[in-house]
Amino acid sequence: MFAMRRRFFAVLITLLLLGLPAAAQVATQATTPIEQPNWPAQAVRGSKVMVVSDEELASQAGIEILKKGGNAVDAAVAVGFALAVVQPAAGNIGGGGFMLVRMADGRTGLVDYRETSPGKGSREMYIRADGTLDSRAALEGYRAVAIPGTAAGMELALRTYGTMKLAEVLVPAIRLAEQGFPVDEQLARSLRSSRPLLQRFSGSYRTFLKNAELYNAGDILRQPELAATLRRIAQGGAAEFYRGQTARELADEMARMGGHVSLEDLAGYQAKLREPLRSKYNINGVEWEVITTVPPSSGGVAMIEALNILQPFELKSLSDAQTIHWIAEAMRRAFADRAAFLGDTDFARVPVRGLTDPRYAAERRATIDPLRASTSEQIRAGNPAAYETSAGGGSGESPTAPEPLRDGQTTHYSVVDAAGNAAANTYTINTGYGGGVTSTTGFLLNNTMDDFTTQPGKPNVFGLLQSEANTIAPGKRALSSMTPTMLLRDGKLSFVTGSPGGPTIISAVLLTMINWMYFGMEPQGAINAPRFHHQWMPDELVTEHTLAAEVQAELERRGHKVRSVPWRWLGQVEAIAIDPKTGERLGAADPRRSGVAIGY
Ligand code: DON
Repeated sequence: MFAMRRRFFAVLITLLLLGLPAAAQVATQATTPIEQPNWPAQAVRGSKVMVVSDEELASQAGIEILKKGGNAVDAAVAVGFALAVVQPAAGNIGGGGFMLVRMADGRTGLVDYRETSPGKGSREMYIRADGTLDSRAALEGYRAVAIPGTAAGMELALRTYGTMKLAEVLVPAIRLAEQGFPVDEQLARSLRSSRPLLQRFSGSYRTFLKNAELYNAGDILRQPELAATLRRIAQGGAAEFYRGQTARELADEMARMGGHVSLEDLAGYQAKLREPLRSKYNINGVEWEVITTVPPSSGGVAMIEALNILQPFELKSLSDAQTIHWIAEAMRRAFADRAAFLGDTDFARVPVRGLTDPRYAAERRATIDPLRASTSEQIRAGNPAAYETSAGGGSGESPTAPEPLRDGQTTHYSVVDAAGNAAANTYTINTGYGGGVTSTTGFLLNNTMDDFTTQPGKPNVFGLLQSEANTIAPGKRALSSMTPTMLLRDGKLSFVTGSPGGPTIISAVLLTMINWMYFGMEPQGAINAPRFHHQWMPDELVTEHTLAAEVQAELERRGHKVRSVPWRWLGQVEAIAIDPKTGERLGAADPRRSGVAIGY
């Protein structure tokens, strides 16, 4: 418990520090968490292309590839590998995620490279002999590691939609790892606050401390072992990662250190190309289409369920208490259903069709009181199976046992090219620096096993309750909240978005889209606007402190348990909007940490 609490504070401090200013740069939008007036009011404009990511060096890597003639997916793969070098807390080849692609010719696909459970995984693997949950084992060190998907996912995206070779798009990442890059204030602070975790594992100690000292801003961080691994991937493709030297070294280390990832697990890993979820809305006479994730991400289903519930309501602005009430009540119902039904559809029957059916939304909507917050008991999961053609889903039994919401690290970036191809990628090693282990091959490993239902009825690190549909089984993908999403406006690309933030991803993406679709806000304003989040359990409406006090008071009068935390930001949205009149790419980087939009 003490260790859990220490880790909790380490994560909190990391988050707090990540909000502090980075060095001023062209088109860099950095600010303190409190001083909103410093936030940029306008998006960065580009007539042809735009890359928006959390890190300037990564955004530049994307631009470098676009300038060489690469398309949005070539650039997105380059950004993905570059972030694995320059944003070690979240960028990765030791984790997984989702890349949503829409090509200018209308083709769409969701590259699902979510991590899977090792073959030795089982639903009881984190349960001690006395029946209690060893949640630390699912969060720290070697036993927390699921089979990484990033190398396979990046290769699949490139092969399906790209024009360049892996070796070409890996050039910027290899250069950054080999020659090193200057550590900025943000990374220095993040490494400092994560030192207690990182120094426990020899690979992380070697990589992220220099002779036992912390890196300071301005120091050059070189990662020769990671560079060597990236070079091998450039030569041998993902096959090298999963079946070559990298796989052998990783499996050996796992066997030595008590981890579960085996050579067979790595050889068997497959990224999957899935059909994204789509849903249409007519808002103020404009036809919108949402294109988003399917399971094993819960995000698309939850977001569409919420948007469906909201359909007939008059939404005014996100600083209007009535609007927040509607949205919060919709979120609560979508999250209660997430907790009851969602999991990997290759293993569990999940009523995706029912949950996203407007008739089901009508049933859920009917339980909302326009003026009073429902109790969480009133909200318990509905019966979406009634709207499925085939029966399906979890038990529908909502678990109980609320616990506080927690954060970690993940990263999202968006790319649009001159032809109008677009990529939205969210990937992660789960919490910041994953489980703390850097393998002998130079990359940090995820702690994504905690995203499974490690014990039914027990919340995970984000306070999320999850169902039988998400219990651990060999080869199964852990349920995720990552939600890379695009919007079409009258059939044309209009908005490319996504966020980190665990469950708050779903709220951050939803709210940003609502600002763009319903209120026609300037995209930077849509990103800057105060956010709120309700995940059903714990029963609290978490708000950013920038929400006006009188609005908060009104929500409390209606029975919402509002929790506004001064240091807390919800999400880090890196979005690109298309100006409907000029076609310009409008890069809206989130100033909550230090997103960087670069376009031309
Ligand atoms: O896939 C998920 O839902 C989580 N592993 C995401 C973690 C996350 O976003 C932490 N971020 N800030």
